[in-house]
Amino acid sequence: MSKQRSSALDPDLAQRLDEHVSFEAHSALTYFSMASWAEVRGFTGFSAWFRSEATGEIAHMTQFIDHLNNRGFQATIRTLEAPRSEWSSITELFEAVVELEHRLGGQIADLIELSHKCSDHFAGSFLQGFVPQQITDTAEADEILDRLRIVGDDGRGLILIDQELRAKAG
Ligand SMILES: [Fe+2]
Ligand SMILES: [Fe+2]
Repeated sequence: MSKQRSSALDPDLAQRLDEHVSFEAHSALTYFSMASWAEVRGFTGFSAWFRSEATGEIAHMTQFIDHLNNRGFQATIRTLEAPRSEWSSITELFEAVVELEHRLGGQIADLIELSHKCSDHFAGSFLQGFVPQQITDTAEADEILDRLRIVGDDGRGLILIDQELRAKAG
């Protein structure tokens, strides 16, 4: 029997938040896949950065699961499609990073809009908490892609960016 809460989630909003659990999980798996691609090609700094992004997406997924469960809606854990594992270059791979982070940002914005429509201030407040980080993540991904495009195939330039990412990954 599910827990009863006075601040019940709107069924449509609950469904969308529940689907977002899978999207954060998909994002985490994608970053793990990117980390492996980078690691075996000598991009060890990129690999470390992708690993730390993967950990971040797992943390987000957990927050969504907790929000749903705390409000009496049992979060669903789904089987996911395998993430992409091949890219022709680190720049092509990073185009996928930029697309992923922009999609994550767009989905958070859509969920905030839906929470407003449902007058669900608890969900709205929870979702707003992701906004500053998502803006930073998106801007950071854009900036790294810009820098990759500047250096192109120049090995020394790529090593410099790799070192920067290793430092960022901590
Ligand atoms: Fe995320
Ligand atoms: Fe992210």
